Amino acid sequence: MHKSMINLTINGDEVDAVVKDNLTLLDFLRDQLGLTGTKKGCEEGECGACTVLLDGLPVNSCCTLAVECNGREVTTIEGLARNGQLTPLQRQFIDKWALQCGYCTPGMIMSATALLNTNHHPTELEIREAIEGNLCRCTGYAKIVEAIQAAAAEMNWEEA
Ligand code: FES
Ligand code: FES
Repeated sequence: MHKSMINLTINGDEVDAVVKDNLTLLDFLRDQLGLTGTKKGCEEGECGACTVLLDGLPVNSCCTLAVECNGREVTTIEGLARNGQLTPLQRQFIDKWALQCGYCTPGMIMSATALLNTNHHPTELEIREAIEGNLCRCTGYAKIVEAIQAAAAEMNWEEA
């Protein structure tokens, strides 16, 4: 398999790597960089467990090739906390009990982060649409929606 040199930014750090042309972003993150916060589920674009941000937009990293990310910016769940401080969204997932097994949680949080980055006042419908590609087989979604609503309210309160 042909290999290519790529240069990209991951969680604010510049990364140079040589990757096989068929290597997914998911396997690059987990196996080559050790960023195992991004989860591997269906590997066919159905479950959303592997969601990361590519230039600020959520993508399924199992369906994205590492070589496609050359020159671009990737954010994973490991890149959200700053100086050991969780984001309001991460904290609200804990406070509202929005997780059980936790396998879907990184992907959920990345999708919701993309929403809150561009929409500080999402409706419940907008929240449900933002996470419609993220499957959770434990929580029933109600607590997840509640956590995202609480994080939006907290961010708006901090801005006021
Ligand atoms: S592992 Fe990527 S969508 Fe399921
Ligand atoms: S918390 Fe288990 S899949 Fe969502």
